[in-house]
Amino acid sequence: MTEKKTIVIGVTGGIAAYKVTDLVSRLKKRGFEVEVMMTEAAQELVAPLTFRVISGRPVRLDLFDESEGDPAEVEHIAIADRADLIVIVPATANIMAKAAAGIADDLVSTVILAADSPVLYFPAMNTRMWEHPATQNSVAVLRERGFKVVDPAEGRLACGTVGRGRLPDIETLEEKILAVMAESERERDYAGKTVLITAGPTEEPIDPVRCITNHSSGKMGCALAKAALRRGAEVHLVCGPIRVDPPAGVRVYPVRTALEMKAQTEALYDAADVTIMAAAVADYRVKDAAAQKIKKDGSTLTLELTPNPDILASLGERKHGVLVGFAAETERLAENARRKLEQKHVDMIVANDVSPASGVFGGDTNTVAIFRKNGATDCPKMTKEALADVILDEIKNLEETKE
Ligand code: CTP
Repeated sequence: MTEKKTIVIGVTGGIAAYKVTDLVSRLKKRGFEVEVMMTEAAQELVAPLTFRVISGRPVRLDLFDESEGDPAEVEHIAIADRADLIVIVPATANIMAKAAAGIADDLVSTVILAADSPVLYFPAMNTRMWEHPATQNSVAVLRERGFKVVDPAEGRLACGTVGRGRLPDIETLEEKILAVMAESERERDYAGKTVLITAGPTEEPIDPVRCITNHSSGKMGCALAKAALRRGAEVHLVCGPIRVDPPAGVRVYPVRTALEMKAQTEALYDAADVTIMAAAVADYRVKDAAAQKIKKDGSTLTLELTPNPDILASLGERKHGVLVGFAAETERLAENARRKLEQKHVDMIVANDVSPASGVFGGDTNTVAIFRKNGATDCPKMTKEALADVILDEIKNLEETKE
């Protein structure tokens, strides 16, 4: 049996607050747990007891209320943790301004700030308040951060005027809520999976102050880590010296050289369901790196390089789960990618055009083709973030066809 999903409804002080009782009742009938929290102003408009009866749960009113809930829990964090979705309805200009500014001075605004679930706002207010640049700015900030703000409807408003500002009808609210729930469910398609990702360049020492490295920034590997985490995976990120911050929530294993990356990746490989080698591993290291800084003496300096082991190929020899490699190519992309697919015994190669004209190194976009044993997909130029989701989609498809 799947667990019941919890929708936390934050009711703020708009005249439309009374309509939310019907919404709570409908969501309950659909099998959701519904937990209501109210601001002080909302309590002036609808008695908390009404929501308590309809939701069948205590109504949360106060940040410092000791009477309800588990004394071992920090109440606002516990509410945020329980929520699969938070819906603010009606959302006043005030609550959106606070959420946009990160102000947490009552229970509802504090739960919003503590939430890692999606937050859906249904604003309802007088037209001039809705159109005010301050409100429009809050809405823009919230949307930019990925929160959904549904435009209010047009019609007769409580203040007697006609214009935009009405709460949409209950059916519309219900539909939007169901759509967001379905979307977030689908998006957690990596729940229960462990994803191992390598990222960035490696650094091969020449002496204590110099090294051989390459232009990889680590952005692609970090974008993959972020997307896999968002989609519910436990993510292990083995990274060389990258130029971006790894996403919070990912387990990071910093390494420097190819040999260190090999040891760390191999140690984590058995527990991984999906392994993606996005690192640009140096193919060679200096044979005998100097223990002290090399002094110049005017003559030429010859470094003897010795090949590094191919980490991906060695994982391919004991392959399990899904194994994905990248191929950085400046020419004959398809031919080289197909050869790597065969030789390294991997399920998928994401082939990158890294010719200088592509601007891929350190840039925010990437143009790739994805090669599988049974075919290939050409991807248009897109951001590394968007590509990360495309790669994860392809891996999912591959897993499903294998089953
Ligand atoms: N790779 C690896 N270990 C290495 C070199 C590469 O694990 N020593 C992995 C990379 O992480 C990538 C894939 O192999 O997923 C292909 O890397 P790429 O540099 O394109 O190819 P190479 O195999 O090194 O071949 P070449 O440099 O000749 O193109």
